[in-house]
Amino acid sequence: MILILLGPPGAGKGTQAQRIVEKRGIPQLSTGDMLRAAIAAGSELGMRVKAIMDRGDLVSDAVIEEIIAARIMAPDCARGFILDGAVRTAPQAEMIDRILSAQGRALDVVIELVVKEKELLKRLKNRIKEAEKAGQPVRPDDNEETFKKRQKVYREQTAPLIPYYKAQGKLREIDGMKPVEKVAAEIDKILDGVLAASRGKTAKKG
Ligand code: AP5
Repeated sequence: MILILLGPPGAGKGTQAQRIVEKRGIPQLSTGDMLRAAIAAGSELGMRVKAIMDRGDLVSDAVIEEIIAARIMAPDCARGFILDGAVRTAPQAEMIDRILSAQGRALDVVIELVVKEKELLKRLKNRIKEAEKAGQPVRPDDNEETFKKRQKVYREQTAPLIPYYKAQGKLREIDGMKPVEKVAAEIDKILDGVLAASRGKTAKKG
């Protein structure tokens, strides 16, 4: 099962990805987490991307290819994986299609979490409060001004992928305004459907 979680900052991609990991045992590939780890490690890559992320812009497509291409080839991705916020521009979508097709694989489904902008801001404020309460550092890009910039970047550069995946017949929309459990249940239903359809195809071939 290879799936993309698509949605604006704060839509719940990371939250839902973790649930899928637990339930389905496939890894979560979050480019945001990978880049933050590179920054925390003080690596050359981290130094290259820090200022870009801090101001809420997207890092270059070349950087994403550098970190995601090798990751997809890793043995733990053989049974599938979740691309969490890892596909944000048209060149990135094409790059993923290209890598998968070279491996004789294909994307199964793209799940779009639809959440209103006002709710996203509320969630951001909650996340900041929770981090502060737990004595954890707040993400440098988690402040109101940068968050608004991240929403704008999403609208301009990532939302255009919606028709791209719709045209491939792979897009499934979910109401991400619902509570976490309900959203998770909807995702589960979709993933079960995808698995059943692919088993049906294999049975027909055999
Ligand atoms: P990234 O780390 O991917 O951040 P993001 O897409 O902005 O998403 P968030 O992590 O803010 O939100 P989320 O949708 O995962 O929601 P979450 O589950 O945390 O990217 C950061 C930066 O890295 C980018 O700006 C860019 O610079 C760079 N980058 C990364 N990938 C890139 C790429 N491919 N190309 C170029 N640049 C890239 O939930 C949010 C909050 O809401 C949490 O507190 C959660 O508990 C709560 N919540 C979740 N679901 C619900 C619900 N249903 N109801 C109520 N609350 C909920």
